[in-house]
Amino acid sequence: MAQQGIQLDQEKLCCSICLDLLKDPVTIPCGHNYCMNCIESCWDEEAPKQTHSCPQCRQTFTPRPALVKNTLLADLVEDLKKTGLQAAPADHCYAGPEDVACDVCTGRKLKAIRSCLQCLVSYCDQHVQPHYKSPAFENHKLVHPTKRLKESICSYHEEVMKIFCCTDQQCICYLCSMDEHKGHNTVSAAAERTEKQRELEVRQQKFQQKIKVREEDVTLLQQEVKVINQSADKVVSSSEKIFTGLIHLIERRRSNVMQHIRSQQTSLLNRVQELQQQLEEELTELRREDAELGQLSHAEDHIHFLNNYPLLSSPSESMNPTNINLHPLSYFEDVMTAVSAVRDKLQDTLSEGWTKISMMETKKMCYCHKQNPRPDLNSYNTDVK
Ligand SMILES: *[C@@H]1O[C@H](CO)[C@@H](O)[C@H](O)[C@H]1NC(C)=O
Repeated sequence: MAQQGIQLDQEKLCCSICLDLLKDPVTIPCGHNYCMNCIESCWDEEAPKQTHSCPQCRQTFTPRPALVKNTLLADLVEDLKKTGLQAAPADHCYAGPEDVACDVCTGRKLKAIRSCLQCLVSYCDQHVQPHYKSPAFENHKLVHPTKRLKESICSYHEEVMKIFCCTDQQCICYLCSMDEHKGHNTVSAAAERTEKQRELEVRQQKFQQKIKVREEDVTLLQQEVKVINQSADKVVSSSEKIFTGLIHLIERRRSNVMQHIRSQQTSLLNRVQELQQQLEEELTELRREDAELGQLSHAEDHIHFLNNYPLLSSPSESMNPTNINLHPLSYFEDVMTAVSAVRDKLQDTLSEGWTKISMMETKKMCYCHKQNPRPDLNSYNTDVK
């Protein structure tokens, strides 16, 4: 920092003729500095007048002063170029690839702040100054910097095209309007722009309306997704409930049937036991009477035989073995038939229901915006009785 005793200022080291950094700086007798070439050519132009003036202070010199390079200034300019980073304009002043560059700057170009439609040149802040200050540029039209300056120039006449030929629907210059577009219907380019701008705005409005409508459609579709998901969830859970109920009902009935068969089995067995008991009692009696008859048949005493014989009974004719037919098999067969019938009926009903359900299809969604009333899914009863 110690060596950097003075702050170099680019502007102070610029030539007021070319506005660039001094090149081979010379100091003329009045004290003002210029590039050797700039002041030489300036004085060359003045040569016929035999006087030589300073472009800045207008002091005149005769004869033409001899010019010697100012080495001190030349060194300063060199220093400035070396330490350019500190002295140079901030980076944002330089033209990037997107920016319009000043056409006058040499080396690294600054951003243009104005384009001249007369010169067809874009200028940075510094180089546009003559346009503001010198009456020579009074009629030049300055516009926002644009890269398309050439586009606004007529390629035949090299003139700015400021006229719109309605007949041929193209931009033309004033020479065109007097030449091949003579007699055509023309308006100023600005007026045509205003007209087309209005059309454009109408068109843009239509686009924006359409965008709005379509955006609403997208929102509607998103709502539709929600409704679909909610409905599907609700129906899935309802049908799960119904099937769970059905499964429970079938299990209850299975247990009922099982218990019923078992209780019938028990009562049949009780009946069999009862009959068995009766039969055994009868057998005991028959065996006892048979034994009595046997004893009597062996009696030697005739009187005893004859007195006791009538007291002994003869076996009853009613003893009939067919009485013990309980027909148990017909009961079991009937139950089996009934259960099978339930199975067949259930299978049929389930198949029929499934066929119906599997044939149902979601209706193809159409690209229209009608809201159909939806069935109230809460109205389905999920209870199984
Ligand atoms: C709708 O359901 C699908 C499938 O379950 C899911 O991926 C999606 O995120 C759900 N959308 C909304 C908006 O709930």
